[in-house]
Amino acid sequence: MRSIRNIISLREISRKEKNLKGKVALVRVDFNVPIRGNKVLDATRINVAYPTLRLLLKKGMEKIIILSHHSDPKQSLAPVRKILAKNFSPARVHLLENLRMGPGEEKNDLNFAKKLAKLGDIYINETFPDSHRAHASIVSLPKLLPAYAGLRLEAEVKNLSHVFKNPPRPFLFILGGAKFSTKLPLIKKFTRKADKIFIGGALANNFFKEMGMNIGKSLADRKKYGLKKLARNPKIILPEDVVVSVGRKQKTKTADKVLKNEIISDIGPKATATLFALVRRARFILWNGPLGKYEFGYGGAT
Ligand code: 3PG
Repeated sequence: MRSIRNIISLREISRKEKNLKGKVALVRVDFNVPIRGNKVLDATRINVAYPTLRLLLKKGMEKIIILSHHSDPKQSLAPVRKILAKNFSPARVHLLENLRMGPGEEKNDLNFAKKLAKLGDIYINETFPDSHRAHASIVSLPKLLPAYAGLRLEAEVKNLSHVFKNPPRPFLFILGGAKFSTKLPLIKKFTRKADKIFIGGALANNFFKEMGMNIGKSLADRKKYGLKKLARNPKIILPEDVVVSVGRKQKTKTADKVLKNEIISDIGPKATATLFALVRRARFILWNGPLGKYEFGYGGAT
């Protein structure tokens, strides 16, 4: 997706489709949310899809079939279905089961995409966070049906496109979350584009580890990425202190003092103050991913 001009907004649907009455929309969303037991721990990703779902119903769509994956192929989306049922009639808005429960989605299997295509008349991509995945519901399915960008996807692309058009400076890039392998190319790219890059979340743990520091039981990618050299880049700022937890107990300490039974759960107050100063100075901020384990109550810095 090179520019906003290359995507067709959902707003244009009434002009493009003659009659929406009685039609079924397949909406690919990102309901890959934290779930414990049968409880959704954070519903942000569900809530952000509502404007697109409501707009489709307002435009006269008979039914919406929602498609989503969960990173864990064994995780059912039933707890998400319960939340949706509080907001929409299940007769009109129906959520299919985790797309990754079978192999077709991740293999970008055309037959799997064809089976999905049979369920609806139009396709809407409302999943910016998954659009880098060459999977069946992202890549093959939109080739089989008239395809549109959901409101959120459109907004994300529109906002992100400012990055490539000479953004005001200082330009601060804040990067958190996990899955180092997918984020390393971003870090490398933005060492050329941004003025400062603040790295938190589990991504910082990979840096700490490769710099020879103990990260205890904290989440980190197992692979080595040669980060010692990257950490010396003056644009990169790592948290000087962290909040660690052992069971329910938590402590703040400098990042080099983490013990082997501790889990780094958030950035610490000094790091938060550093980030706050950077945020105040910045004239353009790009932010991807949480700075701590917000779904387990460590959302303070984020
Ligand atoms: C995410 O949470 O980053 C997206 O939903 C993508 O999930 P994935 O890394 O399992 O493809």
